[in-house]
Amino acid sequence: MIRLGVIGLGLRVGHFIRETMNSVDPDFRVVGVVDPGEAKSREKMRDCDQDAVFYNSIDEMVRLSKPDALLVGTRCNLHTPMALEIEKYHLPVFLEKPVAITMNQALELENAYRNSSTPVLVSFPLRMTPLHRRAVEMIRNGAVGDVLHITGLNYVPYGTVYYEYGYRNYDITGGLFLQKATHDFDYIMDLAGSPITAIQANWIRGRVFGGDKPEDLTCANCPEAGRCPESPENRKRDDAGGVLNDHLCVFSKACGNVEENSINEEASNSIFEFANGAIGTYAQLVFVRREGVRGASVSGPKGKVSFDWYRNELNYVEHHQPFSTTVKPGAGLDHFGGDVELARNFFDMIRNGGKPQSTIQDGLRSVFTCLAAREAAQTGKKVIVRQVEW
Ligand SMILES: NC(=O)c1ccc[n+]([C@@H]2O[C@H](COP(=O)([O-])OP(=O)(O)OC[C@H]3O[C@@H](n4cnc5c(N)ncnc54)[C@H](O)[C@@H]3O)[C@@H](O)[C@H]2O)c1
Repeated sequence: MIRLGVIGLGLRVGHFIRETMNSVDPDFRVVGVVDPGEAKSREKMRDCDQDAVFYNSIDEMVRLSKPDALLVGTRCNLHTPMALEIEKYHLPVFLEKPVAITMNQALELENAYRNSSTPVLVSFPLRMTPLHRRAVEMIRNGAVGDVLHITGLNYVPYGTVYYEYGYRNYDITGGLFLQKATHDFDYIMDLAGSPITAIQANWIRGRVFGGDKPEDLTCANCPEAGRCPESPENRKRDDAGGVLNDHLCVFSKACGNVEENSINEEASNSIFEFANGAIGTYAQLVFVRREGVRGASVSGPKGKVSFDWYRNELNYVEHHQPFSTTVKPGAGLDHFGGDVELARNFFDMIRNGGKPQSTIQDGLRSVFTCLAAREAAQTGKKVIVRQVEW
């Protein structure tokens, strides 16, 4: 039986362990946890994991619980500090994304892991999904010829979470390139088979969400709830999604502001140059409702491969043959089937010493690209992306 130690057992890693890992093979136990919110963490744990001991320090947990592997599920700003602390144990690690939120963190992480024997699986489910894997396989087998152009789209139909949950705290997330686009930049570079070397970007902020409502205002205490489109009753009436019970105000000062560069962007466009000579674009919008779009089109002289996770299909157009094909994988899986593949990969690393399919280099490459995109949007200038030095 596998013994797991968890650092930061919140919503994401709680769900990943309880539902996803459990669905792949329940023959494991959480034996030790470091999390200051023990009661809330316990609510997210399986009955069979309730014997786990909560510790005040990682060192104590590793010495006394003797885990076979570690998971880091703290909020974004703590991923690097935790990863630095646990490198010395050389245990397989599941590390949440983004792996860092500042250039200093990313450089420290790169230094610490460059010659490390600690295997790290970065939590990038999209690159593990069957749709993405099929697209990569087709592209590597020459379906489009040389990759010349990639368009990525992400219309997020649940984007109010970035203004009504802790994700609105910019100091913790560093904005939505790092919080959200980190997944997309990663899978886009995987499709290209090449890193992004230069980036231009623009964005809009403070046009839909944010404002001057009190920091702790919720709809239940708001005199405007009756006419506010974001109140639970109006969201229900309009089928607009988001939290459907009392929630923090998305027009609050706590969402940050444009002047201090402390508010999540509502929409952004990025323009890429890849090392292999391809070019590409990515658009991310978080104020759209109901009908999400997430996926990419990859074009070359011979054809175009496109897929969309919401439509759950992949389309291939052959430029010089009269054929177009559409394939559909099975439906209904978390993160479009990517989470279950992450869990399988993590079990393989623990049991068989298997290699991570979403590596710390991938995590860092994505962070460097996100930091460059944010700088490009802030300055209006083209930014050269620092490359991973491994
Ligand atoms: N890979 C994905 O697809 C995906 C999806 C959702 C969230 N996430 C990421 O997962 C991370 C966690 O998000 P969440 O929604 O679960 O947040 P959360 O707040 O529910 O969980 C974070 C946990 O960390 C704990 N914590 C805080 N300080 C700590 C410390 N010093 N030491 C140990 N534990 C500490 C908190 O008590 C909490 O239980 C975020 O970085 C988010 O970006 C990733």
